[in-house]
Amino acid sequence: MKQAAAQAAIAYVPMDSMVGVGSGSTANHFIAELGRIKHKLQGAVASSEASAQRLKQLGIPVLELNSVDELPVYVDGADEITRHLAMIKGGGGALTREKIVAAVARKFVCIADETKLVDVLGKFPLPVEVIPMARSHVARELLKLGGQPEWRRGVVTDNGNVILDIHNLEILKPIELETTINQIAGVVANGLFARRGADVLLLGTGRGVQTLTRH
Ligand code: 5RP
Repeated sequence: MKQAAAQAAIAYVPMDSMVGVGSGSTANHFIAELGRIKHKLQGAVASSEASAQRLKQLGIPVLELNSVDELPVYVDGADEITRHLAMIKGGGGALTREKIVAAVARKFVCIADETKLVDVLGKFPLPVEVIPMARSHVARELLKLGGQPEWRRGVVTDNGNVILDIHNLEILKPIELETTINQIAGVVANGLFARRGADVLLLGTGRGVQTLTRH
């Protein structure tokens, strides 16, 4: 189902353009699909070192985001997504760069299998990237929001920071919570993608790939 969604995303990549590429197992399927059309691409901007490595191995040029004027599309997976196309991302720890590349892209195409579609976000622990010296302070502040933050021990992000995963949240107002968490000193980014959610969801299901668009 992940592979089928990834394959369907190729239709959203304009020919002879740059493409933003996410991280994770579904994004890896998309990278493999890009390999088949690499002669039609200018190159890619990757949201993680791991994805950059995979793209380079396939001979796809990887550019720094700062050297790119515009990005027509960004394709990435999600840990959870609603029918309004708000997401939790960051299961793989790449949330900050994913958010930055997504912010530049004109269109965000989310590729996911049907298990990722939820009515309410929050069963999947919400990742928060934190400056290391702020870890305990941020954890105390997150407790006040009603969830249980847990340090993802042993994980250092591509930006040299740590991750706190917030368990047991029922996120009824994702835009508000995204904004609130961003206000805590020491937070770099959080895994709620609600202010800038996806524009299109390609959902791999047992009955084929369903397309949902943001209204
Ligand atoms: C990584 C992410 C991924 O998109 C998310 O974890 C989904 O992963 P997968 O495609 O392996 O299910 O946000 O930071």
